[in-house]
Amino acid sequence: MRTKHLLAGNWKMNLGPTQARAYARQLKESITPLSKTDVWVAPASISASAVAEELKGTSLQVGAQNVHWAESGAFTGETSPLFLKDLGATFTLTGHSERRQFFGETSEATAQRTQAALKAGLEVIVCIGETESERVSGKTERVLEEQLQPVLAGLTAETATKVILAYEPVWAIGTGKVASLKDIQETHQHIQKVWASHNLPGSAVILYGGSVNPTNFAEILALKEVHGALVGGASIKLDQWLELIKIAEATAV
Ligand code: 13P
Repeated sequence: MRTKHLLAGNWKMNLGPTQARAYARQLKESITPLSKTDVWVAPASISASAVAEELKGTSLQVGAQNVHWAESGAFTGETSPLFLKDLGATFTLTGHSERRQFFGETSEATAQRTQAALKAGLEVIVCIGETESERVSGKTERVLEEQLQPVLAGLTAETATKVILAYEPVWAIGTGKVASLKDIQETHQHIQKVWASHNLPGSAVILYGGSVNPTNFAEILALKEVHGALVGGASIKLDQWLELIKIAEATAV
């Protein structure tokens, strides 16, 4: 059971090691003590060490954007969960729509990656979301169920507490289009039902993602169905990221 908002930044393929280190340093120097918000950042894996070094000893957590299901071996270009642990990462994303869309990752592969990360002791933000045509044709709930099924089926009462779900409608990512508050509420409620149908304890922690910015964040976070946000573009602009943190701190948990 989380007692704070979770604000996670997905830097995607932005900020190489030098820039990422500089950004992390500025972030560390600008941030004030936080009582209501956990702030996590997911740099590109090649930048993660630099960011982890910079943020060591702070409350800010570093993670990865994806992880492989094996601990080591002949998997060119992939990242082992053990390597992430080694550099001080505490979490990873899995199943991001850009992985699904551009790299053909299936929900089964997302489940395998999630399992491996959990086994290594990482927390996991599992990303799900429908495309615009799926929403328009009324398939959103079914698509989310299919994406969740293999992931949730592999969880135990214990590992479930280390999993966070991020609802990111694909059509809202990087487009400036945000889901309506009603759609967010209804979709998060449906995700809770799917969670409960897998006999998992408690309720799911669900983040919203997709064009979150300082103008729209307060009303999204005020929804009781929303426990935080997964942010792309606005997480790599320091002024906007600090503003989002401020909003999370000012919003009742
Ligand atoms: P944007 O905030 O840039 O829309 O990206 C959302 C996202 O994909 C986070 O994982």
